[in-house]
Amino acid sequence: MLDPQGAFDLRAFPRDQRARFVNAVTKGKNSMPPWGDLLKPEDVDALWAYVVAGETQ
Ligand code: HEM
Repeated sequence: MLDPQGAFDLRAFPRDQRARFVNAVTKGKNSMPPWGDLLKPEDVDALWAYVVAGETQ
């Protein structure tokens, strides 16, 4: 979540773009490898819930 240097600061990820999130995490995007072989769809759903909750402490 917190300023992962060259990756994406997920605190700033647009909360109205769930499909973009799921797609990027499952299939990868540019420098980020795909996590779809490691994470089940419900895992990605749980990650999305965590990101939109925005609890960073
Ligand atoms: C479960 C853990 C992770 C989640 C949920 C996640 C999620 C995301 C999301 C949502 C984006 C933005 C994609 C977009 O712009 O639409 C992103 C970008 C990125 N992530 Fe991850 N990520 C994870 C783990 C990692 C790890 C472990 C790495 C490093 C090996 C990584 C490297 C990157 C990079 C480099 C980008 C920028 C991609 C670009 O060039 O546009 N991510 N990540």
